Amino acid sequence: MKKLTSETLRQLYLKFFESKGHAVIPSASLIPENDPTVLFTTAGMHPLVPYLLGEKHPAGNRLTDVQKCVRTGDIDEVGDSSHCTFFEMLGNWSLGDYFKERMIPWSFEFLTSPEYLGIPVEDIAVTCFAGDSDCPKDEESAELWKKCGILPQNIYFLPKSGNWWGPAGITGPCGPDTEMHIIRNRAEADKLGAYDFDNAPSGTFLEIWNDVFMQYNKTAEGKYEPLKQRNVDTGMGLERTLCILNGKNSVYETDIFENAIAEIEGLTGRKYGESEEVTRAFRVVLDHVRTATFMLGDVKGIVPSNTDQGYILRRIIRRAVRFGRNIGLPTGSLKSVSATIVNKYAEVYPELVKNSARVYEELEKEENKFSKTLQQGIREFEKVASNLAAGGEIDGVTAFHLYDTYGFPVEITGEMAREKGLTVDVKGYEAAYSEHQAKSRAGSEQKFACGLADHKEETTNLHTATHLLHAALKKICSPDIEQKGSNITEERLRFDFNFSRKLTPEEVAAVENAVNEQIALNVPVVMKEMTLEEARTQGFTGLFESKYGERVKTYSIGEFSKEICGGPHAESTGALGRFKIAKQENVSAGVKRIKAVLVR
Ligand code: ALA
Repeated sequence: MKKLTSETLRQLYLKFFESKGHAVIPSASLIPENDPTVLFTTAGMHPLVPYLLGEKHPAGNRLTDVQKCVRTGDIDEVGDSSHCTFFEMLGNWSLGDYFKERMIPWSFEFLTSPEYLGIPVEDIAVTCFAGDSDCPKDEESAELWKKCGILPQNIYFLPKSGNWWGPAGITGPCGPDTEMHIIRNRAEADKLGAYDFDNAPSGTFLEIWNDVFMQYNKTAEGKYEPLKQRNVDTGMGLERTLCILNGKNSVYETDIFENAIAEIEGLTGRKYGESEEVTRAFRVVLDHVRTATFMLGDVKGIVPSNTDQGYILRRIIRRAVRFGRNIGLPTGSLKSVSATIVNKYAEVYPELVKNSARVYEELEKEENKFSKTLQQGIREFEKVASNLAAGGEIDGVTAFHLYDTYGFPVEITGEMAREKGLTVDVKGYEAAYSEHQAKSRAGSEQKFACGLADHKEETTNLHTATHLLHAALKKICSPDIEQKGSNITEERLRFDFNFSRKLTPEEVAAVENAVNEQIALNVPVVMKEMTLEEARTQGFTGLFESKYGERVKTYSIGEFSKEICGGPHAESTGALGRFKIAKQENVSAGVKRIKAVLVR
């Protein structure tokens, strides 16, 4: 096995797939485009869903990238050796091009070739789909692995619970997968039969890579229909792979965090690893500062707030502050830890450098805000906790008071309660929150169910309406308006843009009229592929200029709207119905939000 740095692993992966005819595409934003059901990009395939469903990708049908991902389901677990909220996924895709027959030998070559990872063949175990009434047993993958040289006793079969990936949400592309694992405990592995993989004691195998053969679309009724095209979707976690290759026990001990650990040690005088408690606090600060840096530094940079992505960011920063306090991290230091992260990733994610002033400023603001009330809040919490017997529950009104007065996100109160063997009445908290705020965070919580938008007619029409709205805002309110975010459900569109104030009633009417005029004209929506340079000279706007590499898809609606966009869109505007602005909201000082609907 080769010892590698994060930089070398990224390069090797992309180089390998480039040599196999793949176009290297840049990582997409951490904030998903037009996806109402999930707050952050959670896998490499996530930004590629339209193309997995059949849209043509401008860079071709073989793609590879390193994608920034955030998964926030286990924030409270961060601090142990394995959980992280941010990670990078190395991946490659066949969009209706090659299938198992190519992917499996390539995976084998990348893992075992001395030019790449150089893992000994006998150290690799693979699992394949065992088969059920939806899809037959994947003998083909098992045979391909054998032909490559994987030892027959190291090939296992698992049912859907183990060897099936997707859909990322409730509906969408999915299929059987084959997973590659490093054998860490051969004696235990040798005891297992072909169907016993899941009976191995934990630590026997470490998963390194996943090849998904996406050949089904799961429908809302739970049926698996064959997809228009057969795709390959693979994912290799960068940090986890680094950790395995370098024989480390935790991702925090890889080169990624080296400088950040030195920085925290310098700031606190404490040593990473000096005790379990100190190590846990270091890891929380390391992970959370890295995630916050990537969120704030993203091309669609978000800022701390009380809803959706902004709330998660706030919660992450505040949790970092709380744990930082435990090791004596002085107030105002998060930005210097963040600077080590920006430097470490400067070449791979130049947006971090470009947006570093915003990153540091927002971190400092949020840290200061929370630090002011943290000590008092802890005292208040201790008072409440001391009045409860072991196993007792902190009531919802108190939890809300801790949030409202001291800025403790309820999840942090919950974690502090658990540390003392107590619980929190979260339902009661939500009721108290709704009562005070007249709107609850429940809507955003539901998004953690993690699903992907489908491409129904309703959402496609709303996507086209979003382009019309964007163009109308530019014409009527200000030519400087740019898209800052977009999110579409079957019922409504949501559009965030830079503007300092709400639209006046006259402006709202003028924007609605301009959009409805385009709908009445039934203008065809025309897609054209061109180079980014051509798109720029022809006046197409695009927020995601770096996302698709050289060739891009452009959509024009007459001369009214011209945008760089991945699609899909309505064929012509006549299908849209009547456009109506339903609501205006304030996202932050310089960013406003419009929610709009199409009425039949
Ligand atoms: N989409 C697959 C995963 O995330 C590759 O594991």
